[in-house]
Amino acid sequence: MARVTIPQIQQMKRDKQKIVVMTAYDYTMASLLDRANVDILLVGDSGARNLLGYDDSAFVTVEEMVVMTRSAVRGSQRAMVVGDMPFMSYQASKEDAIRNAGRFIQEAGAQAVKLEVGLDYAETVKAVVKAGIPVMAHIGLTPMASIGSGDFRSQAERVEHERIWLDARALVAAGSFSLLITGVPAALAKQITEEVSVPTIAGFGAGDDCDGVIGVTHRVLGFDAGELDRPRANYGPVAVPFYDAAKKFAEDVRAGKPVRSGRDQKD
Ligand code: KIV
Repeated sequence: MARVTIPQIQQMKRDKQKIVVMTAYDYTMASLLDRANVDILLVGDSGARNLLGYDDSAFVTVEEMVVMTRSAVRGSQRAMVVGDMPFMSYQASKEDAIRNAGRFIQEAGAQAVKLEVGLDYAETVKAVVKAGIPVMAHIGLTPMASIGSGDFRSQAERVEHERIWLDARALVAAGSFSLLITGVPAALAKQITEEVSVPTIAGFGAGDDCDGVIGVTHRVLGFDAGELDRPRANYGPVAVPFYDAAKKFAEDVRAGKPVRSGRDQKD
């Protein structure tokens, strides 16, 4: 089966057909999401927390991201797979950016990479695109934008909004095939979507008017132990049937009941 291509994603914007993006960090998750017809699988650096259990996504390495991406590629057949370039894999130089982006394509089999950038990195994006690697640019409000209150805050927000506009324009001009927008007021995300020629994908806080939506799968489907105590996910939470099934298996084993089935494999 052929994978979703960048021209198809761009056509979806023109046809006003919503683009579905979800995160996947491994083979099993990717194969389930692929069967569910998700258009783009993002192997996000959120896998640092959700798969690898780090406290902070800044700790995840290119090696780890490449392993996760390769596994998501193996698990999927139709979805486009985008590998997220982790902290310090592109900041030091354009050469680093090209070399590391190349690893996602060559070693992992991804179709594109994502860089969390502003206009300061437009030249880096341009260099990666020039090397033949498609880039999804991830833009949004920085945590600093929410510091302060009253007039200062509205002034800071106005400056931030202008900066995000500049980021969006510069990164599209640099050749990004898509913009992922997070933490941006819905109205601003909508305006950017209407202005730019490339598809926009809304992450948290960016409203419903972008060309597509990304769901961080572990959050959206409630795939974490916290959901057992306090369910918050809008879909699922899948942690509950998973936990119930594992508990039942453990109980049956302890009770000496036969638990093998024809589907069992040696691993
Ligand atoms: O790493 C990730 O999952 C992301 C999403 C928050 C958009 O970048």
